[in-house]
Amino acid sequence: MLTLNLTNADSFLPQDYLTSRKPRLEQAAEMLATHSGPGGDFTGWVTLPRDYDKEEFARIQAAARRIQKQSQVLVVIGIGGSYLGARAVIELLRSPNYNLKQKDTPDVLFTGNGLSTDALLETISLIGDRDFSVNVISKSGTTTESAIAFRIFKGMLEEKYGKEGARERIYATTDKSRGALKGLADAEGYEEFVVPDAIGGRYSVLTAVGLLPIAVAGVDICQLMEGAETMMEVCAKTDMAENPAWQYAAARYELYRTGKKIEVLAAYEPSFRFMAEWWKQLYGESEGKEHKGLFPASVEFTADLHSMGQYIQQGQRLMFETVVRFEPKGTFLIPDDPENVDGLNFLSGKPLSFVAEQALRGTILAHVDGGVPNILIRMPQISESSVGYLIYFFEYVCGLSGYLLGVNPFDQPGVEAYKKNMFALLGKPGYEEMKQKLESRL
Ligand code: PA5
Repeated sequence: MLTLNLTNADSFLPQDYLTSRKPRLEQAAEMLATHSGPGGDFTGWVTLPRDYDKEEFARIQAAARRIQKQSQVLVVIGIGGSYLGARAVIELLRSPNYNLKQKDTPDVLFTGNGLSTDALLETISLIGDRDFSVNVISKSGTTTESAIAFRIFKGMLEEKYGKEGARERIYATTDKSRGALKGLADAEGYEEFVVPDAIGGRYSVLTAVGLLPIAVAGVDICQLMEGAETMMEVCAKTDMAENPAWQYAAARYELYRTGKKIEVLAAYEPSFRFMAEWWKQLYGESEGKEHKGLFPASVEFTADLHSMGQYIQQGQRLMFETVVRFEPKGTFLIPDDPENVDGLNFLSGKPLSFVAEQALRGTILAHVDGGVPNILIRMPQISESSVGYLIYFFEYVCGLSGYLLGVNPFDQPGVEAYKKNMFALLGKPGYEEMKQKLESRL
């Protein structure tokens, strides 16, 4: 199970912060449980690991098996909340090198998550002449990046397999009753999965949004949900000492209040990179509003100790660190070198994980001495269950944190501004006046 260690944040925190924050946490937890706080209509994720749609879940598993049989490649089209969770879980559980590995499941290629021509062309060339299927994920169906990608890959499927054949290979994850993609999927007869109304994009990894691609990659999604459910029970506890989510939310809020405006998420696993991207969207979109909120940043240790480590140690004192450390799965013993050229023979025969552990401990103390509070999350080995724990833990802390901060953690009004400007500059009908004004400023 996940354990939270706040020892190396304590000296930066008021002595009584856990007791003084308890009433606000109780209130926040109550708002999440009863869906009665700001954005309460989007808190369906709180009980999702227990209450998920079992019939749809079985269809996801069946569709995943079909895709595994029919295709060598699954192209996943989506952006933001319709993208990052699936990629994060696949990379963490199946490796960032998943597509390079020998395996009996399809390659998974993510596209529609940007506007890079080069990346799009590369995806097309990586598919080559292999059989492929498409999972298009978009609640609205009008998100520019993913809608453009879907036009392209739908066209490619229809050219390769004909309209009928393409229909068998397109899986649409979208709104249950509204939107452009819903209309198209109904009209064309694609198999459909639902982005639930009560769950926003960044909280949707444990719905069909994340689960279909994750299952296609060979991950046991039952265990993932069970892990999340276990953590759901822990997060519902009302005794501060037994609830790591309450403790973490209280500590990060108190650090924010006392001037630590950046939270740096650090992990010692390269496979964690996209979990950190997912986490950044979760916290950035949930807390960053009304000119408030911690700025979520991420680093990979020990690699970034040789780059960003300098700033963390001695740059502006604006940040605290949250470190995620998994138990290693295997053992690797450091070989002896008869010449001892690098002077490291004192480590011969020791497990690499022992070196990593001392690096972690040394880094925590160095950063704390440099004025960076440290929160340590220790995890068991990377597995479906432990990843389920972590996803739910971060989601729940995020909900609590938004309410402690006094914002609605479930909206994202700020992401519309660039879209309006982009549509005006692209010459979308109805935006003519705005286009003129913008052009005059550029
Ligand atoms: O969290 C969010 O709401 C966003 O990241 C959306 O998921 C993202 O913009 C994609 O939207 P849609 O699913 O409508 O294409």
